Amino acid sequence: MAQAEAPRCRRVGILGYGQLGRFLAQQLLSRGPPLGLALAFVWARDGARLEELPPPLRLSQLCPLAWAEVDLVVEVAHPCVAQEHGEDILAHADFMLGSPTALADPETERRLRGAVARGGHTLYVPRGALWGCEDIQRMDRGGTLAALKVTMTKSPQSFRPEGWLRERLAAAVAAGTRAVLYEGPLRPLCPLVPNNVNTMAAAAVAAPRLGFDGVQACLVADPGVPDCHIVEVEVTAVGDKGRALRVTSTRRNPAAPGAVTGDATREAFWRSLLACRGHGGCVQLC
Ligand SMILES: NC(=O)c1ccc[n+]([C@@H]2O[C@H](COP(=O)([O-])OP(=O)(O)OC[C@H]3O[C@@H](n4cnc5c(N)ncnc54)[C@H](O)[C@@H]3O)[C@@H](O)[C@H]2O)c1
Repeated sequence: MAQAEAPRCRRVGILGYGQLGRFLAQQLLSRGPPLGLALAFVWARDGARLEELPPPLRLSQLCPLAWAEVDLVVEVAHPCVAQEHGEDILAHADFMLGSPTALADPETERRLRGAVARGGHTLYVPRGALWGCEDIQRMDRGGTLAALKVTMTKSPQSFRPEGWLRERLAAAVAAGTRAVLYEGPLRPLCPLVPNNVNTMAAAAVAAPRLGFDGVQACLVADPGVPDCHIVEVEVTAVGDKGRALRVTSTRRNPAAPGAVTGDATREAFWRSLLACRGHGGCVQLC
């Protein structure tokens, strides 16, 4: 009797080899095969960091040939990687965008959504530290979501600010007290702290009717929380007879001092990767 053919492993490429990239590569090597997942390559800006990996797994150059060999590419480097290569990747493979702040740039969002529609591959956006994202998505789809505010509080050393926010952070560090660095719509904040507000960007993807202009962002530097990242989500929905429903959640994620990524986020990213099973030509929170 002919033996049934074993199902083909989904091949995964990783872009970025910092905290998340290294963790996901290790998970794929140690736990991937029985789950039908295989690590195909890892790329890092500084290739020397990859020396601990077997040579066939080290990708030296970002190129279309690489995307054609995999089913899924995972970006855990910087939003500029998706801005430069996301469209090409989506022409060949599914793409998990670890830095969804990239989508705050309307041109990048337009190009990536266009590539999804043309290529039939899926753009996955990990929820990161966003608690209750399915509920938010459901309210948005039902047209009842009225407002969404995300407040992130971290130690000053955990921020990687750019532009004028750098000076504001420096002033907060000098003062040594809790300081609100930014409060307002999410879109202009994303390019100022592209590594730090990805959870807020996931909220904008979960609530497209509000989007990057409607979701409210608040960023707080607090030297009193050196070892955790706090994310507060405030949801306001329109209920019966116009009465408002309000839900507030607070998530405290332990983090190494100065890290951009909290401890629980590594496992959350692995769970997100496991959910990237091919949804066929859409943008999907995972
Ligand atoms: N979606 C979320 O909720 C969420 C949560 C945590 C981190 N992130 C994002 O995931 C990414 C990785 O996080 P991490 O904790 O592993 O960070 P990390 O700083 O430990 O590692 C980042 C890696 O990307 C590389 N890199 C940095 N800037 C780059 C650039 N301009 N071009 C190419 N490579 C670059 C670094 O060399 C390093 O290999 C970051 O963009 C971070 O903002 C997202």
